[in-house]
Amino acid sequence: VTPVVPTEKLLGFTAVAKSLADVVVVPAGYTASVLYALGDPILNGATAFKNDGSDADFENRAGDHHDGMEFFGLGADGKPSASAVERGLLAMNHEATTNQQLSSFFIHANGGTNTLPRPAAEVDRETALHGLSMVEVRKAGGKWEYVKDSTFNRRVTCLTECEISGPARGNALLVTKYSKDGTKTRGTLNNCGTGKTPWGSFVSGEENWSGYFVRGAADNAARGNDKSVASLNRYGRAQGAASRHAWETAGADDKYARWNNSKLGASTDGADDYRNEMNGMGYIVEADPYNKAKAVKKRTALGRYAHESAAFGKQVVGQPLAVYMGDDSRNEYIFKFVSTAVWSAADATPADMLATGDKYLDSGKLYVAKFAADGTGSWIELSIANPQIAAYAGYKFADQADVLVNARLAGDAVGATKMDRPEWCSVNPANGEVYFALTNNSNRTATPSGSSQLAPDAANPRAYTDMKGTTTQSGNPNGHILRLKEGSSGAAALVFAWDVYLFGAESGADAGKVNLSNLTSDQDFSSPDGLAFSPSTGICWIQTDDGAYTDVTNCMMLAGLPGQVGDGKKVTLNYAGAAGATLAVDTYVGKAATADTLKRFLVGPVDCELTGICETPDGKALFVNIQHPGEGTSQANIADPTKYTSQWPSNAGYGAGKRPRSATIVITKNDGGRIGS
Ligand code: FEO
Ligand code: CA
Ligand code: CA
Ligand code: CA
Repeated sequence: VTPVVPTEKLLGFTAVAKSLADVVVVPAGYTASVLYALGDPILNGATAFKNDGSDADFENRAGDHHDGMEFFGLGADGKPSASAVERGLLAMNHEATTNQQLSSFFIHANGGTNTLPRPAAEVDRETALHGLSMVEVRKAGGKWEYVKDSTFNRRVTCLTECEISGPARGNALLVTKYSKDGTKTRGTLNNCGTGKTPWGSFVSGEENWSGYFVRGAADNAARGNDKSVASLNRYGRAQGAASRHAWETAGADDKYARWNNSKLGASTDGADDYRNEMNGMGYIVEADPYNKAKAVKKRTALGRYAHESAAFGKQVVGQPLAVYMGDDSRNEYIFKFVSTAVWSAADATPADMLATGDKYLDSGKLYVAKFAADGTGSWIELSIANPQIAAYAGYKFADQADVLVNARLAGDAVGATKMDRPEWCSVNPANGEVYFALTNNSNRTATPSGSSQLAPDAANPRAYTDMKGTTTQSGNPNGHILRLKEGSSGAAALVFAWDVYLFGAESGADAGKVNLSNLTSDQDFSSPDGLAFSPSTGICWIQTDDGAYTDVTNCMMLAGLPGQVGDGKKVTLNYAGAAGATLAVDTYVGKAATADTLKRFLVGPVDCELTGICETPDGKALFVNIQHPGEGTSQANIADPTKYTSQWPSNAGYGAGKRPRSATIVITKNDGGRIGS
């Protein structure tokens, strides 16, 4: 493949203004079209989506809450092709479904049932809405469309059998009634960010899975494994806390019972109940997008936490591979996996993608990041051989599998740096630097009290809020984008340099405390979440998931042309600390944004989050996901479409019914050029 030599000016488009309209806004000269929405039929002759609460059969339809997404080319012969630009597969996450109470109200008649027990028929719809879809897309007659009857189309739901792979496979922590040898589990759940491996497969991160399970208030001593309570709590759950949808109440069938992780039978190892079921979620999962006969594999070597994306460092023949990942909760960590196997160029076109995944992703070292105040940082290995882990007072790790399954606790043991919610990460193809969106953190404050609040530090330096020109000292509502440059040993480096690429802020906010990147009204944003570099143009696409700025604008997508770590300056933020003392925090901010380096490209419809982005290899078709438009609608108004906060995409001419739907859009340039030029 001959690389496209950019001759056009990137970021030559006119910036899109902030918008509260219920439409997708793109720059003049571009077209955005709806391609693939919640409920669209893709398998087994499913019927057209009526979108009135009467549809079922969601195992054969697009799932809900489209999130991370990757493009996998198909040649005219129907074989995998890295250069195909008019035909391919979109593999995507269906993270969740819109609910305020228990039921996913946009997909049930009258909004569904919020009393217990939940009706099995409703729960069957909701479980089928979660997971992954792989769907063929093609350009026909100059227009992109999805292919309803493609033999490649596939759904994986949160009940589809998956393989446990890597060091935790067969471990006692994975033994359940469903898999007495601890080698399998059902489904993938709350999949958020994605990635593409160097050998061409799809990877997806399981994020907020813990909220779907319950564990009884009294279920403790009878378990014979009390440390499991520490594990449960560390993943954000308390005994007796209600689950998100109460799926466990729908019946005695395993597909409902498995959501209750309490001890039921007499065994002490979980073999007659589902108490370890929750240990089967929380991984990076890998799928061969071209082969629906191959089960999804859970790559336990990469650790268990609230995963977003998985970004591979640049491959160097003869060197190990690095995979970068974040744990998206307040005060959680950044991780790196380094493979034992070294990269072989022949593996770029493997005969068996998942066997190649076994080679690179089942054996290696998992590290957690620790940031220093001088603009450097270090990677600390999470190993049972580390005395800090082996002798940790907060949790007694049994073996390396236990370290990986409880990677948050292992990070605690080694004193890793607690971050402002690591969302997506991506690697800059120009120089290999690793970018992390840190979306926001309401628990960052100069005067912390209690264990959940943290003082600002160099890598999470902002504890100021300024949404309307009045600066107050608490929280980091707008987030920032951090970037790392590995030391000279590359993937295996144990040290790195870092700075902050951009701080989110309103353009009018205090430039000395909040708007540290000098954002103008063509660039201002809050709460970066989706973040991915274009392999074609090198543009850094930034997508927002914002709760703080939505009185002014819907969520958006920006195009950035970043420089490199260290191209900016050191700044010091001075806070009023405890007992009248000044708390001075040094940090490092990249070169200020200009009209040539950062520009708003898209604003989405009402109540949506922008998430998921991929493109054809020529950079001329960009696929983007619009997640949960209209999620602010009150369930009480389900019968009155005029009270929905959004009617997208039906108001864009797509599909039946007025209920809002998550959907994939495709963006093209009217002159046929690359997206972002
Ligand atoms: Fe699913 Fe962290 O966003
Ligand atoms: Ca996200
Ligand atoms: Ca988010
Ligand atoms: Ca969301």
